[in-house]
Amino acid sequence: MKFNSLFPRLALMSALCSTSVYAADVIKIGEVGSMTGAQATFGISTHQGIELAIKEQNAKGGIKGKKIELVSVDDQGKPEEAATATTKLITQDKVSAVLGEVASSLSLAMAPIAQQNKVPMVTPSSTNPKVTEVGDYIFRVCFIDPFQGTVMAKFAFENLKVKKVAILRDMKSDYSVGLSDFFAESFKKLGGEIVVDQSYSAGEVDFNAQITSIKAKKPEAIFVPGYYTEVGLIAKQARQQGIKVPLLGGDGWDSEKLTEIGGKHLNNGFFSNHYSQDDKSPAVQGFISAYKAQYSKVPDGLAAMGYDAAKVLFAAMEKAKTLANKDVRDELAKTKDFQAVTGKITIDDKRNASKPAVVLEVKDKKFVYKTTVNPI
Ligand code: PHE
Repeated sequence: MKFNSLFPRLALMSALCSTSVYAADVIKIGEVGSMTGAQATFGISTHQGIELAIKEQNAKGGIKGKKIELVSVDDQGKPEEAATATTKLITQDKVSAVLGEVASSLSLAMAPIAQQNKVPMVTPSSTNPKVTEVGDYIFRVCFIDPFQGTVMAKFAFENLKVKKVAILRDMKSDYSVGLSDFFAESFKKLGGEIVVDQSYSAGEVDFNAQITSIKAKKPEAIFVPGYYTEVGLIAKQARQQGIKVPLLGGDGWDSEKLTEIGGKHLNNGFFSNHYSQDDKSPAVQGFISAYKAQYSKVPDGLAAMGYDAAKVLFAAMEKAKTLANKDVRDELAKTKDFQAVTGKITIDDKRNASKPAVVLEVKDKKFVYKTTVNPI
């Protein structure tokens, strides 16, 4: 019948028309994250945190009367993909800002593109100092690794009372290399000694050779600032070689997969992070219940950071004179005492956030709160 065949086309056309009319009333935000690959939980958790923040903002009417629309791209944990994704988001989707990445090496692949196009980029959780040094459009809402390294050095020296530490770093990761150096510097300043410094490349699965040379130096703890997939395997292989000393790490350990891979071998493991689920503050507990209602699970640190990055960006967009990139950038730079889930965020003149860190202990697959360290 004539009508029947015509009707779907009309419906489709009007749907298309209404989309394009609506488009002007939408603020597009780009997101680049590792939704698949060896760091998939980083991307997925961050994405969920961002989605929750958008849902809340849109429920309040959006920003300047416009609804927020997220355009997400999976970079599979690869720097080249992160760069391509950033170009696509900026040139094709014409996003107003970019959120991402988690891994510093990937944010470093994105930042020059955002900077060149003068599109504000906010990384939720990349902690390597070089990321925001790329330029004045690049921000982060987390602390940086010189601080994180000091936190773990002090924890090792003062709380665990160890004096001889081994390092096992991921040569492929700017984050791991930087954090290892910052840790070593602080630990030596405190009077400690780095007895051996070994390395691997992300993607490797057999760390026995490195562990054997570490074992020979009889360290009292091993600092392994990698990402969860390798750290899980390293813990297992180290314990299987009979090493019982504490394993130490940074925020890259934060994934439920860590103990899925390494199991009980992660016991006597300690790492620094951006937030603890045990924090009883209303900001943290309110976020946990909202997140649980949406995703039926307790958020990890990445989810909290994704949420906070989006919130900080939205607050800047609300305050900005217009939604022009420059105006949003200027407001981001002025962020002060923003009460976020992961603490109060003030963006400093290097576009970094100065915030406390927590130290967590891995105990029978749980991350148990040990202490909070305030910025120096
Ligand atoms: N800080 C890490 C980096 O810069 C990323 C990360 C943050 C991983 C938080 C886990 C949790 O590469």
